[in-house]
Amino acid sequence: MAPDRQKVTVRTLQRKKMRGEPITMMTAYDYPTARWVDEAGIDVILVGDSLGMVVLGFPNTLPVTVDIMLHHCKAVARGARRALLVGDMPFMSFQVSVEETVRNAGRFLQEAGMDAVKLEGGRERVDAVRALVDAGIPVMGHIGLTPQRVHQFGGFRLQGRTAEAARRLVEDALALEEAGVFAIVLEMVPAQVARYITERLQVPTIGIGAGPYCDGQVLVFHDTVGMFEEFQPKFAKRYAQVAPLIRRALQQYKEEVETRRFPAAEHTTFMDETEWEAFLRLMEAGDGRE
Ligand code: KIV
Repeated sequence: MAPDRQKVTVRTLQRKKMRGEPITMMTAYDYPTARWVDEAGIDVILVGDSLGMVVLGFPNTLPVTVDIMLHHCKAVARGARRALLVGDMPFMSFQVSVEETVRNAGRFLQEAGMDAVKLEGGRERVDAVRALVDAGIPVMGHIGLTPQRVHQFGGFRLQGRTAEAARRLVEDALALEEAGVFAIVLEMVPAQVARYITERLQVPTIGIGAGPYCDGQVLVFHDTVGMFEEFQPKFAKRYAQVAPLIRRALQQYKEEVETRRFPAAEHTTFMDETEWEAFLRLMEAGDGRE
């Protein structure tokens, strides 16, 4: 079935939740990937700060800045037509003050073509979320494992394991909903907790490592197609293995250049024979530099 080409909005996601239709979300960080994800009919493209790890090679997402994010968001916006575009607010772009948060978030919509922003955190972000929503900026929440707190968590670990921790997650989710988020990412939380939150909220939940009961699912593109090989989170399914294909292609290119099999005739353009002979005559007559 051909995917519906109508632009996805926050209302589309709300309708999907009400109808019990799963929401699809995938990260993208550049123009060609945005085109592929959009053409696949995926509902939401997240320009995640995970790009710091899978594209830029940092050990975590903390070095990513607003300017880096905007650069990638602009490329994605040029490639996507239908999907809802969500730009991830990086570390220290929304922690300092509400004013700075609004100013930074505004740039994602005004300069980089995003439709919404995502920011990590629960109850401590309620003032920021309210101010963004007041400014007309749709906000996606993100609780559970929030990678910008990796040092505080002591690694990329499952969150909400104990009864008390799970209760705090529910409270965070409800506080964000009350503040006006249009959806919440639940990252690395036990499936029962994700289900409980999903059933309590009016807004959709999008899970990553949060089991099957969320209203939608998100994965990191590079994990999904097997482009990031340094580690594979347990929850990330690889639907393709492109890294070995790329490696083989590059090896073959190198060999063909070294053995002069590339470029072949079909990759080569020759000058018109008559022009070439005229050129040789010209050169024989002297190139005018004697
Ligand atoms: O940065 C990112 O890609 C994310 C997703 C994992 C939800 O926040």
